[in-house]
Amino acid sequence: MHIDVITIFPDYLAPLDLSLSGKAQGAGVLEVTVHDLRQWTRNRHRTVDDTPYGGGAGMVMRPEPWGEALDALVPLGGSSPPTMLVPTPTGRPLTQSLAEELAQVTRLLIACGRYEGIDARVVEHARSRMPVLEVSIGDYVVTGGEVAALVIIEAVVRLLPGFMGNPGSLDEESHGTGEGQGLLEYPTYTKPVTWRGLDVPAVLLSGHHAQVTRWRREQSLRRTARVRPDLLATYDVASLDPRDREVLAEEGWPGS
Ligand code: ADE
Repeated sequence: MHIDVITIFPDYLAPLDLSLSGKAQGAGVLEVTVHDLRQWTRNRHRTVDDTPYGGGAGMVMRPEPWGEALDALVPLGGSSPPTMLVPTPTGRPLTQSLAEELAQVTRLLIACGRYEGIDARVVEHARSRMPVLEVSIGDYVVTGGEVAALVIIEAVVRLLPGFMGNPGSLDEESHGTGEGQGLLEYPTYTKPVTWRGLDVPAVLLSGHHAQVTRWRREQSLRRTARVRPDLLATYDVASLDPRDREVLAEEGWPGS
């Protein structure tokens, strides 16, 4: 996958050279190119923002540098344009299933806005050239699209084929689409067996695979009921067995 990121703060994307995405770049699974939007400004002070029409607080990113950036990176009539992502709190929520969709794409272009956002005509114009998706990383506001771009990239890159060491770990994780789908992941433990007076649950040391699986499922159900009851509200209730229902009843889950 190739990812172009356009930003006025290229250094913000430096963490991409570390961790997961750094490994992916090393393995040739991912290439990231970060572009400074100001290279496409034509005014002496290289300003990229201006006051909003209609009044109101804050500044809006002017469309011209974005237009030039798109002309440079996605030439008109070029073959196989990227999918453009615009991080914004008004976008479609980033979910695991959206990350999975994005992991199928061979080229992404992420346009990081600052201030009160980008002149709305930029997205409208970009749609005439490529698929464009406005994406929100959650119901809160961060200061710019860069941190959201990092989140999106991390979520997508770890799903790229040939990247994760142990693809099985994708199945059971919270928000995964495999076993335990729709539930939060169970708690995990490693050595030592006793640490600061706290023991690893005995069932995990028993070697009894079926009991371990059962225990983990109960932990997932309890955790989800306590922390994310909204996930249970859309859970496939038909897949709950009698013991699942008992566990959820113990947690006071009304649908059980
Ligand atoms: N920019 C500011 N807040 C954001 C959010 N929640 N998601 C994506 N981009 C953003």
